[in-house]
Amino acid sequence: MPSSQVFLASRNAKKIEEMRRILDADLPGIVVLGLDDVAAYDEPVEDQPTFEGNALLKAWAGVRATGLPSLADDSGLCVDALNGMPGVLSARWSGPPKDDHRNNTLLLAQLHDVPDTRRGAQFRCAVAFCHPDGAQKVTAGEMPGRVIRDLRGEGGFGYDVLFVPDAQKGDLTSAEMTAEAKDLISHRGQSLRAMAPVVAEKLGS
Ligand code: IMP
Repeated sequence: MPSSQVFLASRNAKKIEEMRRILDADLPGIVVLGLDDVAAYDEPVEDQPTFEGNALLKAWAGVRATGLPSLADDSGLCVDALNGMPGVLSARWSGPPKDDHRNNTLLLAQLHDVPDTRRGAQFRCAVAFCHPDGAQKVTAGEMPGRVIRDLRGEGGFGYDVLFVPDAQKGDLTSAEMTAEAKDLISHRGQSLRAMAPVVAEKLGS
């Protein structure tokens, strides 16, 4: 098996799209395999209290199932006025089954009475890279911004439609920014770009 393969342990199609885009730019020559490229396996229950813990859980499950070095991300939106929630519960904030629009509607209702001056929030991401030889590494990224009062934009996924990042000119939500502009400042972009040299060194490319 060539050492230049890495397995991306995620079922979220939009996340995979972002991760592949960022990795293609930073890890040329490394073949990124997804769930469709490997035999089906039972994915772990994400029961850890931290992004880092859940990312490691998913990446180690990928290693066990495929025998390949594996990458996984765990991420979410941490809202100041909700003491950091939904955080690790972001994907299923309004209960099962996971539904982005229902999550957004619930979050807007919960923040209805929160004034504009207290609507700060951060997207956070942990990326774990685990290797069959037992090595593991976690990198993190954060994109601060604020939660607006309506849904705007067609791009991205999840809470992008109600989140305006601080690190951009204008008043665009991350769903209104181009994919490339979001990647440059995003929590996922930061954590993956920090991980890329680690993966490249380990895979000897
Ligand atoms: P995970 O699969 O448990 O890591 O779920 C992450 C959840 O956090 C997603 O389903 C989204 O609800 C939210 N999330 C994480 N990153 C982003 C992002 O870049 N944009 C919008 N929502 C995000």
